[in-house]
Amino acid sequence: MKLNIAVLPGDGIGPEVTKQAVKVLKAIAMEFDHTFIFKEAKVGAVAIDETGNPLPDETLDLCMNTDAILFGSIGHPKYDNDPSAKVRPEQGLLKLRKSLGLFANIRPVKAYETLIDKSPLKKEIISGTDISIYRELTGGIYFGEKHTSEDGNTASDLCKYSRFEIERIAHLAFKAAQNRDKKVTLVDKANVLESSRLWRKVVGEIAKQYKDVTLDFLFVDNAAMQMILNPKQFDVILTENMFGDIISDEASVIGGSIGLLASASVGEKYALFEPIHGSYPQATGKGIANPIASILSAAMLLDHFGLFDEAALIRKGVDKSLKLEITTPDLNTKTDMVTTTKVGDFIEDFINNPGDTNVNFSNIHLGQSTII
Ligand code: IPM
Ligand code: MG
Repeated sequence: MKLNIAVLPGDGIGPEVTKQAVKVLKAIAMEFDHTFIFKEAKVGAVAIDETGNPLPDETLDLCMNTDAILFGSIGHPKYDNDPSAKVRPEQGLLKLRKSLGLFANIRPVKAYETLIDKSPLKKEIISGTDISIYRELTGGIYFGEKHTSEDGNTASDLCKYSRFEIERIAHLAFKAAQNRDKKVTLVDKANVLESSRLWRKVVGEIAKQYKDVTLDFLFVDNAAMQMILNPKQFDVILTENMFGDIISDEASVIGGSIGLLASASVGEKYALFEPIHGSYPQATGKGIANPIASILSAAMLLDHFGLFDEAALIRKGVDKSLKLEITTPDLNTKTDMVTTTKVGDFIEDFINNPGDTNVNFSNIHLGQSTII
């Protein structure tokens, strides 16, 4: 298969982790005889520095003329600490999502048995957890009308949803549930918010078309608690933009590191794949950022195009690296010698030699990750 892939590394650790995902995709292309063509473009704070615009026209053009987008991360502390900044890196990502119509953000969360002790949560609580979060991505409070009064003392963000916006993601969530444990949990705040009441009504109606799927409802505050108390109760979580943002960061604790969580953002026409983590500025350039979320995002990209064997091989490589503790310091208590690049090298090598199981650790630590 021939695929054009736009690579938007973005800010902070984005370039380091994305580089590993590209490396892994190149190994897959070699192994399975595909042609993947990568083109890079700037987004976020780096794009502001260069052009004044967090999403330059040429970046958007590239994304509109490609098969898929691999995204790194976005954000820079100089904007976080300046509430009066007129241009912000995050606007680049939000505009990209909106312009490409990426209305559904899918975030898989699972407890890896090999990492079960890395999570601050108890083993018996998280073991067996397997959740797919369907977060609405182009509506709600993120995109509603924003206003600040002239004296600067009052501000508002409108949370607005239409039936159409709810229906299209609800169908995706129910279809996903049909291929999983057949349960959808709608997370909302219908006891307070009018927009949540619309979600309940519309999703309840759609549920009638999916008789094999059970629908239940949870208020977001309760859902946040349930995620820690009993995450195994969830199968597919369907929720609006802001609640999905918050609950997915919380859910990442189950896996043991936010550095493991990948995501796919899809619409009618385009698809973008990105880790759920941020730009982690403190770690930039230190080689300590975990590339697995980015590498697993690349696996989701392959799934999207029906390349299931290829995606499965990446996941096998990831599982193996976790099992052998060839992991960055966020997961590795034994050594801080395994860098971002070394994790990528290991998974690349695994793809080149999937049958081989002997790993020369000393070589890995020397930066020669060849499997012997
Ligand atoms: C995410 C991020 C973004 C969001 C930020 C960077 C705008 O937190 O993808 O979860 O809030 O959607
Ligand atoms: Mg977030």
